Amino acid sequence: MKFFIDTANVDEIRKAHERGMVDGVTTNPSLVAKEGKDFRKIVDEIASFVEGPISLEVVSEDAEGMLKEARELNSWIDNAAIKVPLTWEGLKATKVCADEGIKTNVTLCFSANQALLAAKAGASFVSPFIGRLDDVGHTGMELIEAIVQIYSNYAFDTEVIVASIRHPIHVYEAALLGADIATIPPGVLDRMVKHPLTDIGIERFLADWAKVPKK
Ligand code: E4P
Repeated sequence: MKFFIDTANVDEIRKAHERGMVDGVTTNPSLVAKEGKDFRKIVDEIASFVEGPISLEVVSEDAEGMLKEARELNSWIDNAAIKVPLTWEGLKATKVCADEGIKTNVTLCFSANQALLAAKAGASFVSPFIGRLDDVGHTGMELIEAIVQIYSNYAFDTEVIVASIRHPIHVYEAALLGADIATIPPGVLDRMVKHPLTDIGIERFLADWAKVPKK
């Protein structure tokens, strides 16, 4: 299972990278806006140490505009994956990108049929947003299960990025379902390592070790 880091914060990405947990990065316009920095500068900084795919999102709403942006963003770094929305215009742009060898991450996916269309269009990645589905009373993880099954039925190459992750259980459930990738917010990654029994265990071992005679 690959871990992408879901942020545009370079310090957070670096921290996760130093922990050996970064197989890629996903950004979106909201995450970039939070940083208050020039987009290109952020992308160059991330690409200076991240080798895996870095998702960069277009903001045009028509295929032509998306393609123009996709080609431009793709020229910035060697490992770009261009995020396009799951609309007909986005799918048209995805198809052309696939033909031109530009990697795409088809985003804002909320149904299995949308994911099927993304795969048919030749998307490199699809991003179902499970947290946002949970937020409106659906079970986001059921969507992951369906997409993983459908892609496996037809051996589609499109990789499933479990996105809009809110807590460690989402990562655990995504892993159980065999999703290719989880894109994890830094705070959730931090919490994944925590277990009170680990802390108590270390405390006890250290206390006992202090009792061992040292020469
Ligand atoms: C990642 O590709 C998505 O943009 C991100 O996971 C969305 O998360 P949110 O629903 O918490 O904004």
